Amino acid sequence: ARPLTLGDLATKKDAREPIVMVTAYDHPSAQIAEQAGVDMVLVGDSAAMTVLGYPSTVPVTIDEMLMLTKAVRRGLSRALLVGDLPFGSYEASDSLAVQTAQRFVKEAGCDLVKIERGGTTVERARAIAAAGIPVVGHVGLTPQSVTALGGYRAQGRTAEAALAVIDDALALQEAGCALIVVEAVPSEVTALLVERLRIPVIGIGAGADADGQVLVWHDLLGIYDGPAAKFVKRYADVRAASLAGVAEYAREVRSGAYPAPEHGYGMPADEVEKLKE
Ligand code: KIV
Ligand code: NA
Repeated sequence: ARPLTLGDLATKKDAREPIVMVTAYDHPSAQIAEQAGVDMVLVGDSAAMTVLGYPSTVPVTIDEMLMLTKAVRRGLSRALLVGDLPFGSYEASDSLAVQTAQRFVKEAGCDLVKIERGGTTVERARAIAAAGIPVVGHVGLTPQSVTALGGYRAQGRTAEAALAVIDDALALQEAGCALIVVEAVPSEVTALLVERLRIPVIGIGAGADADGQVLVWHDLLGIYDGPAAKFVKRYADVRAASLAGVAEYAREVRSGAYPAPEHGYGMPADEVEKLKE
C-alpha cells in the first residue's frame, strides 16, 4: 500500500473514521505496527521510561531519540512517522527548534515532529512549520513539564483549566500545527477541541470523542510490571509471556534439556574418525 499522507488523515477526520496511532521504539515493533495497519507511529520520548529506564522523559537526549527513531523508520513503509522532540531540544529559541526538527527529518526520516505545551512552544511550532516540517502539538498532560504540573494527573478538570487547554490547542493550530495530541483530559474538553479545531485531534486518556487515539506500546501490550494510567487498556500480557519463556530457557539449560540433538550441527562419520586419529 502507498504511504499515507496528511491528506489521508484529513479525509479520515471528515469521514469520522478514527485515526490509529501507537508508539514504537525499535525495528521489530515498527514492523508489527505496520502489519497491524496502524496509521501513525510515534517514537515518543516515553522511550526514556519504557525502554531506557530513566525515571521521567526529561533526561533523554536528541541522539538517543534519533537512534530509536531511525530503527523505527526502517520498519515502516505505509504508516506516518512522528518524531518526538525531547525536553531541552527546542524550547530555548526558534532556531534551536528548527535545527532539532530538521535533524529528526533529515537523519531519522520523520514525516512530522511533535513538541509539548502551549506558551512559547506556539512560537516554536510556528517556526518549525514555516521551515516546511509538519508539526504535532501536544496539550493537556505534557510529561516534559510533569514537575510544574504537579505530577502525572489529569488536566483541564475545571472550566478555567479546560479553556486554557483549548486556547493552547487553538494557538497551536493557528501557528500551523498539522495535528494535536491531547493527553489526560475529561471527554468534555476533547469534544470541545474537536468542535473548534479544523486539524485532527488525537487523544490519549481523552475519551472517545477524539479524531483518533494513541497509546504507548508498553502500556497496551503489558510489557512492564505495576500500575498503568487509568486510561490504559492492556491488549496483551507480553511481560508474562516473556518471563515464562526466559525462565523456561534458564530451567532447560540448567537441567540439560536444552540444547537437544536437533539444535546442533552434525559432522560426517569419516570426519569424526579423522578427528580421532
Ligand atoms: O512520548 C509519548 O509516548 C507521547 C504520547 C503519549 C503521546 O508523547
Ligand atoms: Na512524548
